[in-house]
Amino acid sequence: MERPTKEQLATIEEIVNHHAGTKGAAIPILQDIQEKLGYVSPAFLKHASDLTRIPASDLYSIVTFYAQFRTEPLGENHLQICHGTACHLAGAEKITDALEHETKTKCGCTSEDGKYTLEKVACIGCCSLAPVINLNGEIHGRLTPEQISKIIENANKGVDGDGN
Ligand code: FES
Repeated sequence: MERPTKEQLATIEEIVNHHAGTKGAAIPILQDIQEKLGYVSPAFLKHASDLTRIPASDLYSIVTFYAQFRTEPLGENHLQICHGTACHLAGAEKITDALEHETKTKCGCTSEDGKYTLEKVACIGCCSLAPVINLNGEIHGRLTPEQISKIIENANKGVDGDGN
């Protein structure tokens, strides 16, 4: 299990203190941990459990049940693939396959080199552009699987910062 830093432990402690005495605080505590630290790792969860005396197994069940929680840090590039109805009908599955192929990772995971995190999301409100992805906050719409390699190539250039 990864060892949290002192700062991360202090952040978790602050969050737990903030919710002290509140009934049903498990989900808000986990949401705050994710908001402040970016994810909820098993080690973060263990620390929250020690402080709150909520069994770690209960916290773990929440984190694995709700899709909003991430157990690993985001990759350098965050890719959200819309699977709302319009995007689904317009070929989101094919876009997903192409993205998984180009980034060498699976939806819901971060690539081994830490460059990409892929996530399936519900409608992101740009249905007229379906199928749509959100790459680091930038919307790409009316996509075809053939366009994906270029998008990832450009993202890699951004990551490398050398423009090649
Ligand atoms: S369904 Fe994809 S943006 Fe609405």
